[in-house]
Amino acid sequence: MEVLKNKKTLQDFIERQKEMGKKIGFAPTMGALHNGHLSLYEEARKENDLVISSIFVNPTQFNNPEDLEKYPRDISRDILILKNSGLVDAVYTPEVADIYPEKTESQHYDFDGLENEMEGKSRPGHFDGVGTVVEELFRQIQPDNAYFGEKDFQQLAIIKKMVEKRKLPIKIKGVPIYRASNGLALSSRNQRLHEDRKEAAKIIYDTLKKVNSWFKEITIAEIKDKVQDIFDHQQGMQLEYFLIADEETLKETDSFQKDRNFRAFIVVVVDGVRLIDNMHLD
Ligand code: PAJ
Repeated sequence: MEVLKNKKTLQDFIERQKEMGKKIGFAPTMGALHNGHLSLYEEARKENDLVISSIFVNPTQFNNPEDLEKYPRDISRDILILKNSGLVDAVYTPEVADIYPEKTESQHYDFDGLENEMEGKSRPGHFDGVGTVVEELFRQIQPDNAYFGEKDFQQLAIIKKMVEKRKLPIKIKGVPIYRASNGLALSSRNQRLHEDRKEAAKIIYDTLKKVNSWFKEITIAEIKDKVQDIFDHQQGMQLEYFLIADEETLKETDSFQKDRNFRAFIVVVVDGVRLIDNMHLD
C-alpha cells in the first residue's frame, strides 16, 4: 500500500494510474479507523481496479474548537489497519496546506435546503466544511466511484446533491451502517466511551428497531413521546433530537404518506459523547 503524504506525490500517483486506465474507487475519512470505514473499502474493492483512502481531520467542518481538538488522531495505527486489511492500494494523508493552500475556510454551498435540516441545525456551517473538503479531495483524486456511509445519511445526501449540481463525473454510493454485535453503530467517537457505556448505548439501536415496529401502527407524535420517555429514563444520556423524515428531502414529517420513503434519525449524547444513528422504516 502506498502512503501519499502530500498533494504532489498524490498527483504523480493519480497521473500514472489514469494513464493505465485504472478505475478508481475512493472513500474519505478523518481517521480513527474501525470496521465501519473498512466496509466502505470492501464495497469499493468489488467494483474498481484501484481503491484509495484518505485520512484528514478537516478543521472547517468542526463548529466547536474543543471537538476538533479532542478528535482522536493516530495516523500510524490507521495506516497499519489499512495495510492489514488488504483492501486499499493507496492512502492520502495530506497536511492542511495541501487542502487549503490559502485560507483554512469553507466555501458556501446551496444544497437545495438539505443543509438546513437536522445536523445543519445542530452544527451551523458543518456541511459547508464537508462540501469544501470533499470537493477538493474529488478534484485531486478524480475517482470514478466514491463511497459514503449511511451512518451519516444527511452527509451522503449532500454529497450526492453536490455532485449533481457541480456535474462531477463521479458515482456516489451509499454503504449500510456497520454495527457492533450489540447493535451500536461503529463510530470513531465510541473510543471515548467506557465499555459499560457502549453496552448501555445499544438502547439507541433497540429504540430505532422499536420505532420501525411502531411506524404505521401509532401516530408519529406518539412515537416521539415514547422515544423521549425511553431516554428520560436513561442515566447520563440526553436525547438531542429524534425525528422521522422523508429520505429524499430530509424534511421532518408528522404523518406517513404512501409512495414516499421515510427514515428515523436520532442523536443521543452519552457521557458527553454525541452519537448519531438512523434507520430506514419499512
Ligand atoms: P468519518 O467520520 O471518518 O467517516 C468516514 C466515512 O465512513 C463516512 O462516509 C461515514 O459515513 C463512514 N462511516 C463511519 N462509520 C460508519 C459505520 N459504522 N458504518 C458505515 N459507514 C460508516 O464522515 C467523515 O469522516 C467526514 O465528514 C468526511 C466525509 C471524511 C469529510 O471530512
